[in-house]
Amino acid sequence: MNQTILLDIIYLIGSVTFILGLKMMGKPDTARRGNTYAAFGMTLAILGTIFLHDGPIAPIIYGMLFGAFAIGGIIGWMVAKKVKMTAMPQLVSLFNGMGGACAALISIMEFHVHAGDPKTIMMVMAGLVIGSISFSGSMVAFAKLNGNLNSNPRIPFYNIINALILLITVGVGVYITVADITDFMWPCIDLGLALIYGIMFVLPIGGADMPVVISLLNSFTGLAAASGGFLYHNKVMLTGGILVGSAGTILTIAMCKGMNRTLFSVVFGAFGEGSAAAASGGTTGGTVKDISIADCAVLMNYSKKVVIVPGYGLAVAQAQHVMHELEALLEERGVDVKYAIHPVAGRMPGHMNVLMAESNVDYSKLCEMEDINPEFDTTDVVFIVGANDVVNPAAKNNPASPIYGMPILEVERAKNIIVNKRSMAAGYAGIDNELFYNPKTSMLFGDAKKVVTELVAELKTM
Ligand code: TAP
Repeated sequence: MNQTILLDIIYLIGSVTFILGLKMMGKPDTARRGNTYAAFGMTLAILGTIFLHDGPIAPIIYGMLFGAFAIGGIIGWMVAKKVKMTAMPQLVSLFNGMGGACAALISIMEFHVHAGDPKTIMMVMAGLVIGSISFSGSMVAFAKLNGNLNSNPRIPFYNIINALILLITVGVGVYITVADITDFMWPCIDLGLALIYGIMFVLPIGGADMPVVISLLNSFTGLAAASGGFLYHNKVMLTGGILVGSAGTILTIAMCKGMNRTLFSVVFGAFGEGSAAAASGGTTGGTVKDISIADCAVLMNYSKKVVIVPGYGLAVAQAQHVMHELEALLEERGVDVKYAIHPVAGRMPGHMNVLMAESNVDYSKLCEMEDINPEFDTTDVVFIVGANDVVNPAAKNNPASPIYGMPILEVERAKNIIVNKRSMAAGYAGIDNELFYNPKTSMLFGDAKKVVTELVAELKTM
């Protein structure tokens, strides 16, 4: 068979596996298989490109390619194996940044080949600018999520400065394209500008807007990779890039909806002021009441319906398995148990779904926010474990709050509210939570795993 036809067939198989894989990742029970399909397609596409794209190449080049493959593969494998579930978002950010860096490096390497050809140099510059923004932005996001960078500095007139840097970056790219520039200094200047913009763009962001920015950067990397696909006339690279770009965009829009923000306000707005805005978020104060493990067990045991709200703290404590045990115990006693999943609970999209799936919770028990909210009126006990921002009524009641407008789980509609966390400390958005002072609320202080384990033990004695 002709080499080109064989490569086209390989690329077609690769593209189909990407689409199929992405579709399967939409459901927890098929997600793992979907990931394997897409990884298989990617491996096939890479091997096809190496062996069939340009015909035989010098053995030293094969050596370099497979050497790089081995080094990258081993590092990636080891990092992914070792990473804790709670550190997954920063790992995703890091990998995303690497994708952006690849696209930017491809573009800078290809500059000499395409310089002076306005049709293709446009794609070179697009890949260079978008990839560099994605790289530096993702690195800042990584540092923030990893706790290495805690502040959200707000430089005066930062919006104007940022818009100016972006304008100059795009302007230089357009100049290189239309003025047939061949001097290598110019793309290097644009690379520097784009890197600075990426840093400036993510640096002031914090609080509840981080997830939106992460998925936006993800879609940037996809677009940058798609530009590479155009350059090399490589269909699978184009398909992969477009899929990442569009999936990232859809996720960004879904996140914006989940947090009630417009994309415009995310990119240009004064947002994510974190703890600085906490003061205006309203410190509620008041008295809180405690509940003992024994009383909590009794309350749950005699309930008809219990809704569990998992949050970031549940992931930190790795309490998902014992939580499933608690759910099974209650179900055995005729209690209807469900989980209320907020779209931005935890630190990454789908975090709570993944976490609960890990402990083999039946998927039908994981309820989306829109579905569970009307059910709180008929809920006897809502058990909030390590969640905070996603149940904060300030999002509905306090226009001064930084999370105002974000849809929340309306837990205060339930008959009894039990909140498990270690202290009265704030959650990710850095704001106080008036739910803790609600007369219907009882606090069950302690590490989630320890507390739920004790609850299970107590229930077993009843
Ligand atoms: P948070 O609001 O961050 O609250 C988590 C709570 O868990 C904290 O208040 C903490 O209180 C408690 N906690 C920590 N460790 C614990 C442990 N071992 N045992 C028991 N409790 C523990 O979490 P959430 O309600 O899930 O909301 C998520 C937040 O993260 C939102 O603001 C969201 O915008 C943001 N965010 C989300 C994402 C995505 S995509 N999901 C990405 C980045 C940011 P104590 O310290 O008192 O225990």
